Amino acid sequence: MAVERTFSIVKPDAVGKNVIGKIYSRFEENGLRIVAAKMLQLSEEVAGGFYAEHRERPFFPALIEFMTSGPVLVQVLEGENAIAKNRELMGATNPQEADAGTIRADFAESIDANAVHGSDSPASAAREIAYFFAASEICDRA
Ligand code: TYD
Ligand code: MG
Repeated sequence: MAVERTFSIVKPDAVGKNVIGKIYSRFEENGLRIVAAKMLQLSEEVAGGFYAEHRERPFFPALIEFMTSGPVLVQVLEGENAIAKNRELMGATNPQEADAGTIRADFAESIDANAVHGSDSPASAAREIAYFFAASEICDRA
């Protein structure tokens, strides 16, 4: 299996709950390495550009309001099958439907405040990593 990179966000609800470390531990305990990371306050413009694919959806305004409601952590995760592995660790979009032991089941309250983002395909991973990180900000494995 190939080593991949994926893009991840610890969303404002999880930062507010002070569970950044617990979520990072899930990545590390499951073979994903953090190769880039930074804390940011997203502007409406940056959040809107990131979620451009959802611009016409009814939940878009609430999504942007939530994503700009407090700081987020953005990171690049690297590992075998990283894109699918991270989606598996995250659990379903709606925490009520997420499998027990997933990040969303354990740390999220609702579909609109669901703790984490993760890229859903190689194309979205490439776009999302480049949206937030310059190549010089991503560090190779130790
Ligand atoms: P989506 O890309 O479908 O989910 P995921 O984060 O699992 O890839 O949607 C992006 C975000 O939009 C989702 O994390 C939360 C929000 N959202 C809602 O608030 N309501 C909804 O009905 C959906 C589908 C998403
Ligand atoms: Mg998505």
